[in-house]
Amino acid sequence: MTPFARPYGRRTFFARERPLAMPSLCVFGAQWGDEGKGKIIDHLAADVTHVVRYQGGSNAGHTVVVGAEKYVLHLVPSGVLHPGKVNVIANGVAVDPLLLLEEIDGLIARGVAVSSANLRLSARAHVILQHHRRLDALAERWRGEGRIGTTGRGIGPCYADKAARVGLRVCDLLDPARLESGLRVALAEKNALIQSVHGDTPLDLGEQLDLYGRLAERLSSFVGDTGAELRDAHRAGAAILFEAAQGVMLDVDHGTYPYVTSSNTGVDGIPAGVGFPPQWIGRAVGIAKAYCTRVGEGPFPSEEHGPRGAELREAGNEYGATTGRPRRCGWLDVVALRYALELNGATSWIMTNLDVLSGLGDVPVAVAYRREGRRFETFPAELSSLDAVEVEYEHRPGWTEDLTGIRRFEDLPRAARNYVEWVEASVRVPIETLSIGPRRDQVIHRS
Ligand code: IMP
Repeated sequence: MTPFARPYGRRTFFARERPLAMPSLCVFGAQWGDEGKGKIIDHLAADVTHVVRYQGGSNAGHTVVVGAEKYVLHLVPSGVLHPGKVNVIANGVAVDPLLLLEEIDGLIARGVAVSSANLRLSARAHVILQHHRRLDALAERWRGEGRIGTTGRGIGPCYADKAARVGLRVCDLLDPARLESGLRVALAEKNALIQSVHGDTPLDLGEQLDLYGRLAERLSSFVGDTGAELRDAHRAGAAILFEAAQGVMLDVDHGTYPYVTSSNTGVDGIPAGVGFPPQWIGRAVGIAKAYCTRVGEGPFPSEEHGPRGAELREAGNEYGATTGRPRRCGWLDVVALRYALELNGATSWIMTNLDVLSGLGDVPVAVAYRREGRRFETFPAELSSLDAVEVEYEHRPGWTEDLTGIRRFEDLPRAARNYVEWVEASVRVPIETLSIGPRRDQVIHRS
């Protein structure tokens, strides 16, 4: 076999003999989450065969508006709202079976078809159990002033157990003997922690077994080897959309650690979180708002603490889709955005919520940080540097016109066009689409 021969069939890498594989696409959040990924993924889902969630869990809240209906999806990929698409919850997702089934039931009750034909769940995905949720809340209380501001959905404790090799996976849930022994061992340790360290009431093994036994039965039809299914689909020419949750600035390796979530939130999460070779990921497109928001604690250099921050929050209805918490608001940060796009090799990006800036006066944009007399345009690793930076802003002229009905870039007010072009030049990655409202049709494609 030559080094270029493929291990299956007689196919080789030579162009003429290449299988019919379509390039796949990753859509990721290029800020601190809540960039409006749900709407964009829903928009792109129309043109693909598969939509795949590969990290995070029900901490995500992807809002999609279809006609007069508004859906908030936490675990189910946004492609479910398009008939005929295969939606995959891959192995890298932390799956809360209780919330997943609630979400499936809620969708079915609203007339959305959900069955094993259009929703697949990885047997290898780790499961969020009741003790993970309980420990998430207790650990936050324990941290006091140093709390992360998590969503309380058990994400951190579940991924911690995965890394510590004591987690339970979906395949364990389906096997009554493994579920029994796994839960027994887990609860022995977690209950000791809950009681002795946190002084809280322990969980009852019998109740938990009963609950997860019932949930497993209902979930079983969705379960499979989703990595193998996706690799096969890719070879057969499928167009796969990888839907990231949260944002790159919350990535456990590249974000503002420790004020991050517990997974890899960019393209980096795909190979491990799906079982999909990195060479097969065709393109990465970042999503970023025309300004910035963050929920939870942690550094946010361009945060607007004054009344203009509150004005942005109201104009953009910036309240968490999962927790309802008011989001911290501030201005677009070119330093952080350039870092996020570069890390992921983004060839283009999509700017959302441009309409929100209408009527808000001039638009400040963070272009550099200064510390101890030094100016820098790269994102620092240490929190101490971030806490101490002074932000250098460039003030761009604002506009007052309503943008929500505009569909062509040339029809935007001159100041809005200038803003987009100036940001694009500063970030050095082209903007392919603008989103100017929550509805599916409220987009402006640029040539
Ligand atoms: P966790 O993911 O619940 O552990 O929360 C860790 C941090 O990530 C907190 O600051 C959360 O507010 C933030 N976070 C988690 N999921 C999202 C999301 O979907 N959008 C925005 N922030 C999120």
